[in-house]
Amino acid sequence: MGFESMWQALAPVGLDAKTGGYNRFAWDDADLACREWFGSAAKDRSMSVVEDGNGNLFAWWGDPDAGDAVVTGSHLDSVPDGGAYDGPLGVVSAFAAVDMLRTRGVQPRRPIAVACFADEEGTRFGVACAGSRLLTGALPPDQALLMHDRGGLSLAEVLHTRARDPRRLGPDPELLGGIGCFVELHIEQGRSLVHSGVAIGVATQIWPHGRWRFEFRGRADHAGTTAMADRCDPMLTYAMTALAANKQARLSDARATFGRVEVSPNGTNAIPSRVQAWLDARGRDEHVVSDLVGAIHRQAAARARRDGTQVSLSAESVTGAVAFDVALRDRIVTALGGVPVLDTGAGHDAGVLQAAGVPAAMLFVRNPTGVSHSPEEFAEPADCLAGIEALAAVLTELAA
Ligand code: GLV
Ligand code: MN
Ligand code: MN
Repeated sequence: MGFESMWQALAPVGLDAKTGGYNRFAWDDADLACREWFGSAAKDRSMSVVEDGNGNLFAWWGDPDAGDAVVTGSHLDSVPDGGAYDGPLGVVSAFAAVDMLRTRGVQPRRPIAVACFADEEGTRFGVACAGSRLLTGALPPDQALLMHDRGGLSLAEVLHTRARDPRRLGPDPELLGGIGCFVELHIEQGRSLVHSGVAIGVATQIWPHGRWRFEFRGRADHAGTTAMADRCDPMLTYAMTALAANKQARLSDARATFGRVEVSPNGTNAIPSRVQAWLDARGRDEHVVSDLVGAIHRQAAARARRDGTQVSLSAESVTGAVAFDVALRDRIVTALGGVPVLDTGAGHDAGVLQAAGVPAAMLFVRNPTGVSHSPEEFAEPADCLAGIEALAAVLTELAA
C-alpha cells in the first residue's frame, strides 16, 4: 500500500460529509478505527505494534529493546471539524518513508518505529498532547484520571469501556529511554513555506502556549421582564473578555482565542446563570503569555464588577517554550540540502518529547491555504511526496 492507498483507506474515518471536516477524538469510535488502520498498516509491513499504557502506538522495524531508536510519526486524532492533514500526514508519511527505505534496500543500524500518539489535540479531555505527556511524566496519571469529557465521563471510565487498564497510565522510562530521537513530519499551519517558495521546512522552536478556563457566574432571569439595569448577566462579562483578549493579544503581538463556550442553561429567552469559556493563549516567550493572560483576567474582573457577576480562572494545560535540538536540526537541514527553518505557534508531541530530553525535530510540509484546524487544511500531492522523500532521507541519515 503506497501513500495514496493508505490515505484513501484512512480518509472516511470520522469524516463529516456535510462539512468535509474530521471528528476523531480520544477513544471514540473514529479513534478506534484509526487505531485499527494503524495496526493494519503495520501488519502489511511486518512491523510489530506495541501500545504503551497511555494508548500511544509504536510500529517497530527492528528490535524495540535494542535502544537508540529513530522514531517518527505524529497523531491521528483531530480537533472538532478538523482538517485531514494535521496529524495523519505525519503517520501516513512515516509508513510511506519506511516503504521507500525498504525499496531502496536501506539496512537500518538503529531500530526505526512509526509512532501514533494518543489524544494530541486534547479535544475530548481538555489537555493537549495527553499521550506524550503521560509517557514522559509531564502529566501525572492521577491528574489525568481527574479529566472528564463533555458528557461527564472520566478518562478512567472511557479506558475501561475500551478494554484498557487506567492503572497502566503513566511514565514509561524504559520505552522513553529507548527512543534515540523523534522526528515528526507535519502539515505547516501557516504560509511561511508558501512565501519561501519551497515544499519542506524544518522547525526551530514552539511558542509557549496554554488553555485557561474562565467561568463567569451571574443570575438567571427572564429575558422579557428583567429590566436591563437589574441584570447580572455573565454573557456580557464574557463578551467583554473576548474583546479584551483580542485587544491584548494584538498589543503584545501574541495570540488569544476563545474557540469554545458553554452557556447554562442556554435558553434563548433566559439570561444565563453561567458562561464557561476556554482561552487559548500563545506568544513568543513565557512572559508575554503570562502577562497576556493576566491582563485579560484583570479586564474580565473589572467588567464583572460592573455587571454584578463573578469570574474565576483556572489553567487546564500549559506548555513552556520548546527549542528543538540544534545538532539534530542542523544535521537534518544539511541532509535535505538546506531548507528553511521556522518556528511555530502550534503544539506538538515532538515538543513534549524534546522537553523531556529526547532530541526531537520536525519537518513541515507546505500548506497552500495556510489554514489548519479546519476542513480547508491542504497539501498538494506533490508536496506530500516531497515530504515522504525528505523523511526517507532523514531516516536514512539517522538510522542507516
Ligand atoms: C495543536 O494543534 C495545537 O497547537 O493546538
Ligand atoms: Mn492540531
Ligand atoms: Mn498536529
